[in-house]
Amino acid sequence: MLQHTDSALHADRRIRYLEALGTDAAMLVAPGHHHRNADSEYRYRQASDLFYLTGWEDPEAVALFRPGAEQPFVMFVQPRDKEREVWTGRREGVAGAMERYGADAAYPIAELPGRLGALLFGYGTLHYRPGDDPPLDRALFAAVRSMAKPAARNGGEIPWTFVDAGRLVGEMRVRKEPAELALLREAARISCEAHTLAMGSGRAGVHEYEVEAIVDGWFRRNGGNGPGYTTIVGGGANACILHYITNREALREGDLCLVDAGCEYRYYTADITRTWPVGGCFSGPQKALYEVVLEAQLQAIDAARVGRNYKDMHDAAVRRLTEGLVHLGLLQGSVDENIHQEHFKRYYMHGTGHWLGLDVHDAGLYWGGFVSRKLEAGMVLTVEPGLYVPADDEKAPEAFRGIGIRIEDDIHVTVDGPENLTAACPKSIAAVEAACGG
Ligand code: GLY
Ligand code: MN
Ligand code: MN
Repeated sequence: MLQHTDSALHADRRIRYLEALGTDAAMLVAPGHHHRNADSEYRYRQASDLFYLTGWEDPEAVALFRPGAEQPFVMFVQPRDKEREVWTGRREGVAGAMERYGADAAYPIAELPGRLGALLFGYGTLHYRPGDDPPLDRALFAAVRSMAKPAARNGGEIPWTFVDAGRLVGEMRVRKEPAELALLREAARISCEAHTLAMGSGRAGVHEYEVEAIVDGWFRRNGGNGPGYTTIVGGGANACILHYITNREALREGDLCLVDAGCEYRYYTADITRTWPVGGCFSGPQKALYEVVLEAQLQAIDAARVGRNYKDMHDAAVRRLTEGLVHLGLLQGSVDENIHQEHFKRYYMHGTGHWLGLDVHDAGLYWGGFVSRKLEAGMVLTVEPGLYVPADDEKAPEAFRGIGIRIEDDIHVTVDGPENLTAACPKSIAAVEAACGG
């Protein structure tokens, strides 16, 4: 496969990773191909942690990190195989791992069980995620057991302690480098265009899957890998199903359509949601709810500042949404009481955002113990409040039933304040109606 990124970036990350590991070793895994059904396969997409540190794009590989060793970066990979490559594509192989990906040593993946013990000897802690690949777990545990006697004789360390392999690399990934920001900007740019096209296409009778095809087609036509997660197109009350991906029904005049879609560009994904009126004009009740969600989103974005707590964004959104719900008669009683009792969850049941990067729900902690972490420059996150009024909610005024609205942008936290990477996507009522031809 063609190398997709700058190998110097990965090399620099490995230096920092090995430093952060200290005296621990790490073992990161690239799974095999995922089958779609029977013998049909999905296009392979590398696991994000392994990709981040190596740039390796082939399936079925293991990367070992051994700080302080003569060969600190060791890979096990699928070997070159002329016959297999005719069917499934070119492989980098063992030589490729060393010559093009900077491995200090590389071996065929089949040699892993026999070599693992010696390679991990001397490390008391291994960063590894058990449970993803049971045969690999067994090979690892057998290797550790095989080291027990020599370790007892020599007094050497063997890895009896395991730490989640995503922990350290997740902390690295949560602060984006300039090269990553450039890719996120491109993913955002393509995604904004796709959403604008979707708005222009959404007439009554058009199916949700046709809107999906426009969005996903635009991602591919612009060099994206496709959507970074399955595109959501929900007309009418389908918008109230948070992860609706059936995308099968026809849009109806007077309904809203919710599209949650982001292009993955060179491994980095955008994540945008827009909700727009089929036919071009919001009705009165739709407009009233939309304005509440929009104000909540703008206030939450404003809280995405260096030194603020991650949780501040959610608190800001919840307060504005709850004020709106009380004002519009969807909740009774005081705003504070509704927040305190969490009654808002009836119409707003998800969080206000997440880290964004190689994965749509990107790596990195949100809490240190029970304390919400502070935002830092270079972090990228989504801000995505919504309101969802079930069609059968007899407690809600009838005019609002079956309306689902989410508005989601991608925000880069900078020393100068929040930078909206997806600002080019129509969002105000006037801009959305104009894009819908209303
Ligand atoms: N598209 C998934 C999310 O917004 O979290
Ligand atoms: Mn999101
Ligand atoms: Mn989303």
